[in-house]
Amino acid sequence: MRTLLKNAHIVTAVDNYIADILIDGETIAAIGKLSIEESTIDKVIDIQGNLVTPGGIDPHVHLEMPFMGTFSSDSYETGTRAALYGGTTTLIDFVLQTQGKSLQHALDDWNTRAKDNTLCDYSFHMAVTDYNNETKKEIQHFIENEGITSFKTFMAYKGALMIDDRQMIGLMQEVKKHGGLINVHATNGDMIDYLIAKHKAEGKLAPLYHYLSQPEVTEAEASARFADLANYTGCPGYIVHLTCEGALNAVRNATKRNQKVFVETCIQYLILDASLYEQNFEGAKWVMSPPLREKKDQATLWAGINQGLVQVVATDHCPFMWEQKLMGKDDFSKIPNGHPAIENRMELLFSEGVQKGKITLNKFVEVSSTNAAKIFGMYPKKGTIAVGSDADLVIWNENENHTISATTHHMNVDYSGYEGWECKGKIKQVFLRGSLVIDNNLCTINKGFGQFIKRNKVKNFI
Ligand code: URP
Ligand code: ZN
Ligand code: ZN
Repeated sequence: MRTLLKNAHIVTAVDNYIADILIDGETIAAIGKLSIEESTIDKVIDIQGNLVTPGGIDPHVHLEMPFMGTFSSDSYETGTRAALYGGTTTLIDFVLQTQGKSLQHALDDWNTRAKDNTLCDYSFHMAVTDYNNETKKEIQHFIENEGITSFKTFMAYKGALMIDDRQMIGLMQEVKKHGGLINVHATNGDMIDYLIAKHKAEGKLAPLYHYLSQPEVTEAEASARFADLANYTGCPGYIVHLTCEGALNAVRNATKRNQKVFVETCIQYLILDASLYEQNFEGAKWVMSPPLREKKDQATLWAGINQGLVQVVATDHCPFMWEQKLMGKDDFSKIPNGHPAIENRMELLFSEGVQKGKITLNKFVEVSSTNAAKIFGMYPKKGTIAVGSDADLVIWNENENHTISATTHHMNVDYSGYEGWECKGKIKQVFLRGSLVIDNNLCTINKGFGQFIKRNKVKNFI
């Protein structure tokens, strides 16, 4: 199948220009002012006046994840379809090791759920929750043979997913040896555990106390500690869902040593704030870890993006039905942590970032796609518009307004954290590996279209 997109306004992380794009099969065959015999083309689409950006990459999502006594409510089918509607053509999910069992055991489990069920392309990070001599032996195999080059660690969720610093250092040394990267949920698990217990003992059980149990210092301290351990071991690190000024300042300090500590924030931390917790149980919609922060933190994060300290804007998409959130109606510590955003990330970032003048179009592409492709070993197959790259493309009407609502979204969750939010800029069409998969609010493919992307070791990152 050969498709010619004529008069595209192409934006990459570095370019902004008008040209035609020839798609041949799954990849981009040519870009320029193309004079091609039209009889050799199957489909010609004139997209004059529309922006074209690389397919979005969301490197932080949790689909059908067993967590806090339940499962996140998007399946691989519903979550990856919603991702495509929102312009995300590739996502990276987290495989969670069960303590006492092998990494391979967890991967088999996740493969069973994901294989043949996805619509967009996907990869996995491997979350190590039990680092020991047996786990150590599996690291090289995952990097060399499975194409899973990033290993997630939790410094929080004490008694469940958390590892201690001894395990962290051991894992960092092994991952560094084989050319991988450590992702981290960097908050101080012991301190949070103490504050949760204290609030509960005092009878403070509303969602607000979820927020008050994870003050900024819990994240700033753990981020600085993680950066120090990464510096000591020489292992590249990536802090997921960083939310606040204190934590970003810890990274700012670390970069003075010229070490590799990449930072991801998520769309919610850029545009929502902790005042949402002040409304009785309704605040449970935004119970996530870390929690939403203050307006001053939003300003720090936008600035951090422009300073190059924050490289990625993800979602940490981890939806739960309202019924599931109600598990914690009498105790905030039982509210499943997480919120839905995979379908909204690109349009919210475009609307709030580009349209409101906070970031440039090039920066938008960099943080929504290109940097994740580079950091996680998928570039230039993914993350850009270039000859030879996968034809993963998002076509926008930058002037169309629309309103976010649970009544129209495609995520399998019965509320939206952004209900009524007005966006300027709408995704009209999405191509994944050369196929038009979203065409004006219609998804044209079925589950099984998505491919697992084996990722490369990365030497130079960004
Ligand atoms: O609240 C969150 N973030 N839920 C998902 C698990 C995690 O910590 O990323
Ligand atoms: Zn986390
Ligand atoms: Zn997460």
